[in-house]
Amino acid sequence: MEDQVEEVKQKTDIVGLVGQYVALKKLGRHQKGLCPFHSEKTPSFMVNEEMRLYKCFGCGAGGDVFKFLMEIEGIDFRDALERLAEKAGVKLVSRKFEVPNDKQKLLEVMDLAARYFHWLLTEGKSGEEARKYLEDRKINSNLIDTFNLGYAMPGWDYLMNYLVNKKGYSEELLEKAGLISKRTGGGYYDKFRGRIMFPLQDASGKVVGFTGRILPSLAKESEPKYLNSPETEIYHKGRMLFGFYQARQAIREKKRAILVEGQMDLISSYGAGVSETVAVGGTALTEDQIEMLARLAKTIYLSLDADEAGIAAIKRAVDIAEKRGLEIKVVNIEGGKDPDEIARKFPDKWRELVENAIDVYEFVMLKSLEKNDISTVSGIKKVTEDVVPFLAKIENSVVREVWTKKLAEKLGVEPSVVKQEIERMKFGRGPVEKYQLRNVPDKNEQIDNKMEKLAKRLVGGLLICPGAKSKIRTWVKDTKLPGALGKALAMVLDTDENDATRLVEKAPAELKGLIEDAYMAEGEGETEEKDVLSLAVQLLREVIREKRKILIDELKTVKTGGSDSKEEELSQELNDLDREENKIMVLLG
Ligand code: CTP
Ligand code: MN
Repeated sequence: MEDQVEEVKQKTDIVGLVGQYVALKKLGRHQKGLCPFHSEKTPSFMVNEEMRLYKCFGCGAGGDVFKFLMEIEGIDFRDALERLAEKAGVKLVSRKFEVPNDKQKLLEVMDLAARYFHWLLTEGKSGEEARKYLEDRKINSNLIDTFNLGYAMPGWDYLMNYLVNKKGYSEELLEKAGLISKRTGGGYYDKFRGRIMFPLQDASGKVVGFTGRILPSLAKESEPKYLNSPETEIYHKGRMLFGFYQARQAIREKKRAILVEGQMDLISSYGAGVSETVAVGGTALTEDQIEMLARLAKTIYLSLDADEAGIAAIKRAVDIAEKRGLEIKVVNIEGGKDPDEIARKFPDKWRELVENAIDVYEFVMLKSLEKNDISTVSGIKKVTEDVVPFLAKIENSVVREVWTKKLAEKLGVEPSVVKQEIERMKFGRGPVEKYQLRNVPDKNEQIDNKMEKLAKRLVGGLLICPGAKSKIRTWVKDTKLPGALGKALAMVLDTDENDATRLVEKAPAELKGLIEDAYMAEGEGETEEKDVLSLAVQLLREVIREKRKILIDELKTVKTGGSDSKEEELSQELNDLDREENKIMVLLG
């Protein structure tokens, strides 16, 4: 199988593949374009044909053909492999590639369960009431098929009988899949009974869990309206977005995603023509979920309940948005209705609401102004407390300034006062303390970075101009640079392999990524041998500078401590360093 993966990789034209999603232009050794994984105006996304790699210097995304397809389509490795193998005309020997048997079995049984429920809803006699219920909710057969909806009968063991007696699966497996539960007196019973079934599909369409809504006639106080599958080996609720599989294409095309609370909200929105909608499904919105959308969309439209959980979700979304250059808007629904109700009864109105979504900062201000009386001092204080934490997160200072002014205007105070509050939050003991660290890197960090940058460029340069190796091998190796970069540099200098692709293949696993990265970064320019030599010299000077600093510090302590011999020794070392540096200066010319 390893071999087949390699064969598919070799036979896949990475420029052709990426070119289907990104307009590429030749630059140096690479093809360059606008990164599809984050929004940018100037291209920092590179594809290298020779190495079959891509890399974005803006957001850090990078990898091979499989990774690209996985990320851009939101699918798993197996799917990516299968798709590329088909295109490349490579027959995969085993379909069970790398998926442990157990997972495979769980997926199988979930798929069968979904088919069973779907059949009951669409054809089964017992599905009559469920059909009627969905019809009343304006969910037509098209939507039923698109979302693969189903029906679970009210009995205790219909599904279990079907899967165990007819299909031969074990009760243990069904329990593991979260489809049946243990009875206290022994034996098992169906978990989902008398419910409309919404299969939870992963990004490649496989059913990994269910949500079931009780039929109104069977509703009981003791039973939840919506029942969800437990987390299993194949279902992780924090990484599930209901409808993502169906919406993915539209999200990518429209560069936006509409995020709603419930399954019904989503299906009605989809029915109203807003097919780029996904639902969180009653759990707290997670970073993983936002990331899934951020890969495909430039803007996320939130249409969540404005309760505490909803506000927390908005906060998380803003956090990630600011990091990823994503835009967050809010679809503001008045009067406590849910999207389902509006989209079902007035599809035009729903589409209009979506188009008129407002900026998240505007929304936060509006909501706070609605519930507080700003003719009082305590009201103004409350609004400030609500809104300032959001504004403090805005990374772009111009944008921050704009919103600062707006808030000041609404409160009838000087913008400078609001600004002061924001600064206090940013740099004080407020919740966004981390920004302070990032803005003021300490000195050591800077020096390390410069050395690291040079070392990395040198690694890349040597891959492009292997001829320079012999000229610098001994003196660069003497510097004994620490860490993975030091190892990578030593490896690149030592090897006789002059072909970049083969060199990366031979590299130890823990250095591969680093070397690839270095190559991608350097390949953007027109690096020649003389540039590589100059890089080596700059690196050496940097190393010497660092050593000198340490020696001088040591010398200072020795001088106050008063040990003559040690002082002499250190001075001698300093002299040696100076001489070494002079030699290098000569080399540099
Ligand atoms: N939910 C849940 N468990 C519950 C209630 C709700 O998981 N006991 C989730 C469901 O995903 C539901 C969402 O939270 O879709 C929103 O809940 P709610 O507003 O109560 O339901 P609606 O979406 O309005 O559902 P319906 O219109 O069918 O009553
Ligand atoms: Mn509802």
